[in-house]
Amino acid sequence: MRARPHGDAPAAQLERGRELLAQYQCGSCHAIPKVPAARASLAPPLDAFGRRSYIAGHLPNRPETLARWIEAPAALVPGTAMPSMGVSPRDARDMAAYLLALE
Ligand code: HEC
Repeated sequence: MRARPHGDAPAAQLERGRELLAQYQCGSCHAIPKVPAARASLAPPLDAFGRRSYIAGHLPNRPETLARWIEAPAALVPGTAMPSMGVSPRDARDMAAYLLALE
């Protein structure tokens, strides 16, 4: 079994994802390791996200589902407190790759 179930994304994608997490200011609500200014605690911390089994308590934590969540959280969990941040599908994929590589 691989130690990092989802953490096999290319380094360039992970770096892009990290920069996007800062650009979209996800850190105004979340604490995210190694993302500048991402230390807020208004929302769940995203450390070790690659080890989590679920997103928002019950969605399976897989790359496609996580990217869809980042694009449009309320489409997956109606009424969720996480806002839609106007993220493009490509940007969402790269941010998901970064989060899934966190262990
Ligand atoms: C206005 C505050 C806010 C912002 C900005 C925000 N989120 Fe969230 N986020 C939340 C809240 C609140 C939750 C918990 C939602 C729930 O459980 O229904 C959440 C949940 C999450 C989760 C699942 C966490 C878990 O423990 O299951 C991920 C992943 C996530 N957000 C990623 C992001 C990303 C990536 C961005 C930037 C594009 C972002 N968030 C921006 C408020 C925010």
